[in-house]
Amino acid sequence: MFRRPARCGAGHGFHGRMSCPPRGVYNRVDRRFARGKAGSSVRRNASPLFRLPSLDERADALKSALVRAFHVTPADVRVVVSPYRICPLGAHVDHQLGMVTGLALNQAVLLAFAPSPESRGKEVAALSKNYPGKVRFELDSIPSFRPGDWGNYLRGAALALRQQFDGRLSRGMVAMADGDLPIGGLSSSAAVGVAYLLALEAVNGLSATVAENIHFDRAIENGYIGLRNGILDQSVILASRRGRLLLLDCQSENWRDVSGLKEGSYQILVVHSGVEQALVSTGYNQRVAECREAAKQLLNASGRRAADGAVLRQVGEDVFAKHGAALPPTLRKRATHFFTEQARVRDGAAAWMAGELGRLGRLVTESGESSVKNYECGSPPLITLYELLVGAPGVMGARFSGAGFRGNCIALVEPGRAEAVATVVGDGYARRHPAEARGFAACVCETDDGARTL
Ligand code: GLA
Repeated sequence: MFRRPARCGAGHGFHGRMSCPPRGVYNRVDRRFARGKAGSSVRRNASPLFRLPSLDERADALKSALVRAFHVTPADVRVVVSPYRICPLGAHVDHQLGMVTGLALNQAVLLAFAPSPESRGKEVAALSKNYPGKVRFELDSIPSFRPGDWGNYLRGAALALRQQFDGRLSRGMVAMADGDLPIGGLSSSAAVGVAYLLALEAVNGLSATVAENIHFDRAIENGYIGLRNGILDQSVILASRRGRLLLLDCQSENWRDVSGLKEGSYQILVVHSGVEQALVSTGYNQRVAECREAAKQLLNASGRRAADGAVLRQVGEDVFAKHGAALPPTLRKRATHFFTEQARVRDGAAAWMAGELGRLGRLVTESGESSVKNYECGSPPLITLYELLVGAPGVMGARFSGAGFRGNCIALVEPGRAEAVATVVGDGYARRHPAEARGFAACVCETDDGARTL
């Protein structure tokens, strides 16, 4: 079984996940996105939008870097593409086993990998283009969680697979990871976990279904890292299909992808706030506990005895309508977010299927508002960015991406208007949060298929 570790970096950023490495490391990554400071891999033109290099260009560069670093044969090198994800509707409800929606983006974490040489058969060794140091361990003795170490996701992936496949996980690998978007809210953690899983499976000839990989990644996050999050991130990363909205029921763990809004009938604008680390603990796990307490009190009020670990999905909407007002104010707000968000997911899926961008956008903005007012997440710069986006001409809907304490906001924008939106929002943001605005960056993304090995 996994050891449940102490959480890393309480008082750091979102979940204490990717926030663990030293701050300078982020700066090294994010400087490339800062206004007027575009680096080699990001081309800046006159527009406020960054044009990121294609996945193929990045994959080729990463393969060469892996060959140089580990002296492996180029023909043995493969690359996992593990996309970032957004969640237009269904925020903060996955851990309550709610319904969520998601889209994978055409920007991704890449992982180049090759089997370890015969002489070092069981050794796993990895480098990252975004974090310093080399991670190295043997599959027979996988070290436990280390606060602040980017190797946790790789070790967690190896443990999850060893738990499932035991002796069949016998071949090590050399690997190099590369994430290209400024992190925060796009699920880079789950993307990198998924990439390690797919790579280790490939070098060991193991086959796992999408549902199994969702569970393996969950074992990394819940078991090895110690987060109480749900299955939204890795499900969207693994199961998405380009141009289709993923609709996931976190209770039954069934999903389907639905067609509707046509590609080209909207733009996805991803806007980075420049906030890399939350100054205080985000309270993600605390809010999960509050949702559970609300579920318990509502179930008890309705005469059902709540088991430990009750979640809001077990509570009927009629029960909330009847007993919600009697909840303590904070719990009432959390439950209000859950039940209204579930209604928005239902309406939003119907709007997507009907191709109604306006209706979908309004629901996304309402979801953002409920995240601020009822779920009470978000930091002042992120809330400003959300408000600026919502007020910008051409924006049909906007919200934080992910938890909203740091990182990115997303907006659904009328075709052709993303650049103007980025200009207006960037200027307004610079006036309100000049320090954070130095790291402001915006790019237009498209949807993509889920994680795959090239
Ligand atoms: C993070 C978590 C997810 C989900 C979202 C909010 O991305 O990892 O499980 O709770 O926040 O919707």
